[in-house]
Amino acid sequence: MTSFKGNFVRITFITLSYLSCTSASYNPHRTEPGTLKKLQYLLEPPVQVEVTGRRGDNVTLPCILRVQPNHYKIKWTKLESENNGRQNIIMISNANAFKPYGPVGQRASLQRAHTMDASLMLRHLELGDDGRYRCELINGIEDENIVITLRIEGVVFPYQSKHGRYKFNFHEAMQACAEQDGKLATYNQLYKAWTEGLDWCNAGWIHDGTVHYPIVHPRPVCGGKLPAGIRSYGPKNKDNDRFDAFCFTSQISGSVYYISGSFSYDQAVLACKRQSSELALVGQLYAAWRFQKYDQCNGGWLRDGSVRFPIINPRKHCGGIPEAGVRSFGFPSKTTHLYGAFCYR
Ligand SMILES: *[C@@H]1O[C@H](CO)[C@@H](O)[C@H](O)[C@H]1NC(C)=O
Repeated sequence: MTSFKGNFVRITFITLSYLSCTSASYNPHRTEPGTLKKLQYLLEPPVQVEVTGRRGDNVTLPCILRVQPNHYKIKWTKLESENNGRQNIIMISNANAFKPYGPVGQRASLQRAHTMDASLMLRHLELGDDGRYRCELINGIEDENIVITLRIEGVVFPYQSKHGRYKFNFHEAMQACAEQDGKLATYNQLYKAWTEGLDWCNAGWIHDGTVHYPIVHPRPVCGGKLPAGIRSYGPKNKDNDRFDAFCFTSQISGSVYYISGSFSYDQAVLACKRQSSELALVGQLYAAWRFQKYDQCNGGWLRDGSVRFPIINPRKHCGGIPEAGVRSFGFPSKTTHLYGAFCYR
């Protein structure tokens, strides 16, 4: 695998024509059935339709009643556009009782700051909580709902198998992201990463089973004369087609630190162990880079056997690339005695 093949680049501007050219062949933005109904009198129109939080945060999804009927129910549901509009109920509540459903329900409660408050509090956000949530007020045969979007703030990282380019089918890509403390990115997450400068010349799976690659600087080897944008292959065969992966991760609860040395992989494992740590995962290194501005101008082993280093302030002798990013040396032979260790504790 070649080093420095892709990297994060900062872009100074994106023109509207670039934006309108993205994703021409594939439109992931489908509308949910039954979610767009005009509000009449039961619920206040939401002032804030998008809430953001990092993994581990507590957030409140606002939903305020306009009237308080005698007998009513509040129902919060997560809308899953990937499963033909399947809906996951999180909780149902009336004046006296609160019934949570499913794993998200275990972290949910109603805020009840005042009698008209039906806002949902969600504790200890997870990567998979990203998405759209519906607050529904049911009053006999009448009902009204609003939809609030929850965005998990995080970072997208491309991930390639240690066996080389384009080795993952969809299920393996999903597994690979999970093993690096991430989750396959959503289209929105990949798109946002592109607007922030992600330029990567290898196509990868995202979580709905489609395949894309983001290009900021068009060049002949990456799709020829196509404009900048997310280049999309659309849905691919999840069992037989093979690509890389675009993973998404967010804030970590621990921290990543570096032990300098000329270690082999096994020595790096031991160096962390001696300090009651473990070699860091790729996602943890990206999270430290993004959220803790972690900058370390030396390659270090990670648990998957790759060697990388995070750069916040680009400088000549640190990879020579003018943009901030996490650089990769790929997967060197594990007996190479050349690198330090990135530990996680
Ligand atoms: C989230 O809420 C729980 C309990 O309600 C609290 O213990 C925890 O400290 C909160 N976490 C954050 C990040 O505020």
